[in-house]
Amino acid sequence: MSKTEAAAQERERLESLAARVGTPFWVIDAGVLRRRIGEVKAVCGECGFQPRFAMKSLSTWRVLQEMRDQGIWIDAVSGNEVLRARRIGFPGGANPPVIMLTADVLRDNALEVILNERVLVNIGSPGMLRELEAAGYRGPVALRVNPGFGSGHSKGVDTGGPSSKHGVWFEDAGETAAEAARRGLKIIMLHAHIGSGPKLEELLANLNRLTQEFARMAKAFPDLEGFSLGGGIPFTYKEDAPPVEIAQLGPLFADARKRLCEAAGREVRVEIEPGRYFVAPAAHLVTRIRDIKSTRTNEKGTGKNFIMVDGGFVDLIRPAMYGSYHRISIVGRGATNPVEEFAVAGPVCESGDVFTRGSSDLIAPRPLPRPEIGDLLVLHDGGAYGYVMASNYNSVGRAPQVWLEEDGSAVLVSRRETLDDILKAEVEEKL
Ligand SMILES: Cc1ncc(COP(=O)(O)O)c(C=O)c1O
Repeated sequence: MSKTEAAAQERERLESLAARVGTPFWVIDAGVLRRRIGEVKAVCGECGFQPRFAMKSLSTWRVLQEMRDQGIWIDAVSGNEVLRARRIGFPGGANPPVIMLTADVLRDNALEVILNERVLVNIGSPGMLRELEAAGYRGPVALRVNPGFGSGHSKGVDTGGPSSKHGVWFEDAGETAAEAARRGLKIIMLHAHIGSGPKLEELLANLNRLTQEFARMAKAFPDLEGFSLGGGIPFTYKEDAPPVEIAQLGPLFADARKRLCEAAGREVRVEIEPGRYFVAPAAHLVTRIRDIKSTRTNEKGTGKNFIMVDGGFVDLIRPAMYGSYHRISIVGRGATNPVEEFAVAGPVCESGDVFTRGSSDLIAPRPLPRPEIGDLLVLHDGGAYGYVMASNYNSVGRAPQVWLEEDGSAVLVSRRETLDDILKAEVEEKL
């Protein structure tokens, strides 16, 4: 198929979905998701690792079904995430711990869910031992450690070091182990997530250092059944950077497993729990171009061209939140027009509702073909931390999600939210 034919097919497919569900909408590409799951399973299979899916990155039921069918376990971060996974059929219980609840704070129904579903709780601060004991919990626990180092694509996602709120500081882990023993709670797993950085070399160095740290700590934890090296496997969002393949981590994983089994003095389970790597390239936000306008240069700065689309940071917040980069393509009559510099902005009543952000600039215009009003504009690779971070700000309903099968058939897996959906928790109850 030529490039022009492929573009025409893509346009027809997206326009036919838009005619049915309106814009903006999300497309989840089943083929891409299956390929990513396959890559993770292949490297884990070779190295004797158990993969989990950090479901907070994309918890749509159809995605969870796919993970379940492929034997991927779950890392949940709230009571409701555990219950979502249970509804999809992931088993409860901690033997084996198919669902693990990693918590910074046990809020809402988290304690109740741990007691009822008996899932493995991964404690993120020492006081949780007291809370668990007081609630009558006597099962196993995992211990999330802050190893003192880590990295992130922005400071907000760097999860190790003195400024990180996550986990128990590694030098205090022995004390936490002693306290767990006093409270009759067995620590069966050591866990750390050292952040979601963009660079593979940094991840390799950090994982190596983490393995060393875990191997050193293992003696203080006689009941250990496993270790988790967390998630954070990078996805390359920019088109000009070489893609990271999880297979590149194979030798490090194999070595880590060997060292951790040696340190524990027996066979132990070693886990990873990526979110982004599984789902980032598997979903795209499709928006409609509603207008094109320009500002002019004056004493405050240089004039800009704006493409105004109907999706905004209520749908995909990563650019506004972290200055993240998402590939953009124009699908429609303007796709082959000459390229100019454009900022892409949405409908939210905030000047920061701009998709073309720089790491420190509010607006970083991109070279794009001058589109025609009415063309579609696609924000690519938004599968991780995209839909799940959508909000109802401005009382806008969350956009629908479409599951696109490999044979081209499509299923609506969440509909557009209505005003009634948004208002359903509003009450007037006298207290
Ligand atoms: C405990 C834990 N595990 C796994 C992940 C997944 O990270 P990523 O999506 O970068 O793989 C996160 C993300 O912040 C996390 O906090």
